Amino acid sequence: MKIITSIDELKTIIRKEKQNGKQIGFVPTMGYLHDGHLSLIEKASIENHFVVVSIFVNPTQFGINEDFDVYPRDLERDQKIAEIGGANIIFHPTIKEMYPNGYRTYVEVEEITEKLCGASRPGHFRGVTTVVAKLFHIVTPHRAYFGLKDAQQVAVLQKMVKDLNMDVQVIPCPIVREADGLAMSSRNVNLSPQDRKTALILSKSLAKAKEIVAAGERNAEMILIQVKKTLATEPTVIIDYIEIVDFETFERIDILKGRVLIAIAAKIGKVRLIDNIILEDLPSCI
Ligand code: PAJ
Repeated sequence: MKIITSIDELKTIIRKEKQNGKQIGFVPTMGYLHDGHLSLIEKASIENHFVVVSIFVNPTQFGINEDFDVYPRDLERDQKIAEIGGANIIFHPTIKEMYPNGYRTYVEVEEITEKLCGASRPGHFRGVTTVVAKLFHIVTPHRAYFGLKDAQQVAVLQKMVKDLNMDVQVIPCPIVREADGLAMSSRNVNLSPQDRKTALILSKSLAKAKEIVAAGERNAEMILIQVKKTLATEPTVIIDYIEIVDFETFERIDILKGRVLIAIAAKIGKVRLIDNIILEDLPSCI
């Protein structure tokens, strides 16, 4: 497996693969790969002939007081994991390669990016759509794989692809969790041992929500009360948001029906974590 740092070199390789009739799968990442990333790479390898994994800690999607500087990085380890997943190439550009001096073009999806993580991280999704649009133009994949761990990111990118008539299929993939339920994240490594234990409360409170819904509750306010109560058992957790929204519009809903997203963002120690569950095919009452 090759590591490519040059956009032109990667474009040449992809062009050749396409000329030979190869289908290109793409997994964009910021590296420090874990089993969540691996699941995307494996799926891409099954469904395509040639798989590109990008590893680029994208500065434009981090706010000034966010964790760009301490975001974990380990290219050697990433290389092994990408190889296990069946990747053919790692694309690992420098910041200068992606954003040379004088770079001035940004891609912005409206409305949906103002909610949830967009509300607490202004400019975040603008950075994500910009870098992913650039990567799509460089890699020109048939299919691109994204985790539902970042459910809003998936929805924003699907909107961008649709609105800009991009010729790529965005494929959402399920959340991969640690054995105890914590959603895998590159940021988990920055949790202290105590905070790692505390962090479990996120998946626990979502499991609680699922339980209440399974028992027939459809009132969003009632469910939120229970979720907040569960989260409050860990008083050091600083909640950013807990919301129940329609998965299409990301608008808050009062009564659960159809396809619903319950999403949490919280700060545990110095680390901001997100988690969610998607509830589908909800009948209006049981
Ligand atoms: P990163 O956080 O590295 O995630 C890369 C991809 O892996 C994303 O699609 C993310 O949703 C997915 N992923 C992360 N944790 C996961 C888990 N536990 N289970 C399943 N999938 C998981 O998301 C980004 O990078 C960046 O915003 C990026 C799209 C690369 C643009 O810079």
